[in-house]
Amino acid sequence: MVKLIIDTDTGADDAIGLLMAAAHPGAEIVAVTTVAGNVPLDQATTNAGWSLHVAGVSDVPIFIGCDGPLVRPLETATEVHGADGLGDTNFGPSPIGPQHEHAATALVRLAVEHDGEAVLIALGPLTNLAVALAIDPLLLTRFSHTVIMGGAPDMVGNVSDMAEFNIWVDPEAAAKVFDAPGRKTMVGWNVAMSAAQVSRQARAQMAQLGTAAGRFAHDVTAVVEKFCAAELGLDFFALPDPIAVAIALDPSIVTRDQAIGIKVGLGDEARGATFPTWLTPDARATTIVWEADADAFSAQMFAALRRLD
Ligand code: RIB
Ligand code: CA
Repeated sequence: MVKLIIDTDTGADDAIGLLMAAAHPGAEIVAVTTVAGNVPLDQATTNAGWSLHVAGVSDVPIFIGCDGPLVRPLETATEVHGADGLGDTNFGPSPIGPQHEHAATALVRLAVEHDGEAVLIALGPLTNLAVALAIDPLLLTRFSHTVIMGGAPDMVGNVSDMAEFNIWVDPEAAAKVFDAPGRKTMVGWNVAMSAAQVSRQARAQMAQLGTAAGRFAHDVTAVVEKFCAAELGLDFFALPDPIAVAIALDPSIVTRDQAIGIKVGLGDEARGATFPTWLTPDARATTIVWEADADAFSAQMFAALRRLD
């Protein structure tokens, strides 16, 4: 059984990723940590509670983390995911109360408690991970694997020309994470756009599954579908966090990858850019996912939405 710790800024795609992790027969979510990103921290925490409630795992502890980047003001993405981050479904107060321990100390503690066996999946800005690394610089060596949704290794960004949102929001935190020793995989925006597209028909199929998870996934993606059509002229939207979860659970979905260093842009022009570099020692390299199997991802996602009722 793979033990998962998921750090999330709980927008619509994070929520579907949480459902997929909860539904996977070979995985167990042992903790969720929340961070400000798509929405302010309180909303991200509430959304994590609703996602775990819909997934039927209301006993998973939620640890609240950082309410903004290390040194920059918070930039949210409510225009993409809705004011509440979940497609303006406005579910109301969280059905799960958070723990009192800070996410950063929880990450440090849980890594040790699970004795190097847990997998850490980061689905938002990397602020919590950076603070946890300040406490324990070897943190990522105490997880078996850290899978990061973030970055744009092909320099095709979503929040700026060359930067992806999670890295752009807190580039200083991301730089600390990519420089840290430990097995890391970066699932970037390139993978979301090439292997995790959801068409209007596929979104409708979510609701037609007749399950609570299918209806939830359909409803929370209402705003992102409209945003992509109206603002980007796209007849689909991408699900970056779910494919990061899918790859963490089944690495065979990856069809092409490369181990290399990642340098993060910190200046104004290149803020949040993720530059592949050979100038990083192998021990601190990150596996960049270049290509993944779209059909395998879709099959895993729909199997999860079908399973949770
Ligand atoms: O750029 C996509 C990422 O930013 C996803 O994790 C999405 O949820 C937002 O956090
Ligand atoms: Ca996210």
